[in-house]
Amino acid sequence: MRVDIVTIFPEYLSPLDLSLIGRARAAGQLHITVHDLRRWTHDVHRTVDDTPYGGGPGMVMRPEPWGAALDALVPAEQPAERPAEPPPEPPAEPPPGPSRVIVPTPAGSPFTQAMAHELAAEDHLVFACGRYEGIDQRVFDHAAARANVSEISIGDYVLFGGEVAVLVILETVSRLLPGVLGNADSLVEESHADGLLETPVYTKPATWRGLDVPEVLRSGDHARIARWRRDQALLRTAVRRPDLLAALPPDTLDKRDVAVLTGGGFPVPGADMAK
Ligand code: ADE
Repeated sequence: MRVDIVTIFPEYLSPLDLSLIGRARAAGQLHITVHDLRRWTHDVHRTVDDTPYGGGPGMVMRPEPWGAALDALVPAEQPAERPAEPPPEPPAEPPPGPSRVIVPTPAGSPFTQAMAHELAAEDHLVFACGRYEGIDQRVFDHAAARANVSEISIGDYVLFGGEVAVLVILETVSRLLPGVLGNADSLVEESHADGLLETPVYTKPATWRGLDVPEVLRSGDHARIARWRRDQALLRTAVRRPDLLAALPPDTLDKRDVAVLTGGGFPVPGADMAK
């Protein structure tokens, strides 16, 4: 996957050299380039912002440098599809497939694990990190003619700019790319994989500061362990994220699940329909 990030603070993205993302970059699985937006300014002060039309506090990022940046990074002629067969040797700069432009903003659609899977299937992501009160909307209205543009929020709070959101989104997406996570099984049992939160986890020693690891996890009985984990996931989700439980597709809960939730004091609407 190729990733281009445009920002006025390139140093903010330096964690992308570290840990598993750094390793994926070194291994050629991820080609990330961070660009300084001011490279596309032409005045002596390298201006990127101006006062908002209509009045109001703060500054808005001007469209000209952003337009030039997206012209340079998002090809006007988008390839219809990626090639059927990859070339035998990956080229140093892999040719991008269709580009997806991501604009992190608190006014965007909520970022979810499902969206991360969608982005992980793309060939080319271009992140536009806004600062101040945001970027002139015409930049994205214009880019939408040649790329899929998504405004995405990582949560209901306001950051100084999009850079930290890019780190969050890229970390979530890159661990879904084939070969980036050492053990792909980790993806199956983690929080949000099946619409439920992950269960509590334990390691050695079996007793620590007078606290024991639950007996079932030491029993070696895999069916009991699986059932215990499912029960914990259901109850934890009911307490912490009832919205996730309510959003589960019909037929996801069986009679035993319903009994666990009801026994825990969480009545399940439509429970008599469970298999
Ligand atoms: N920029 C500022 N706040 C943000 C948020 N919550 N999500 C994404 N981008 C942002």
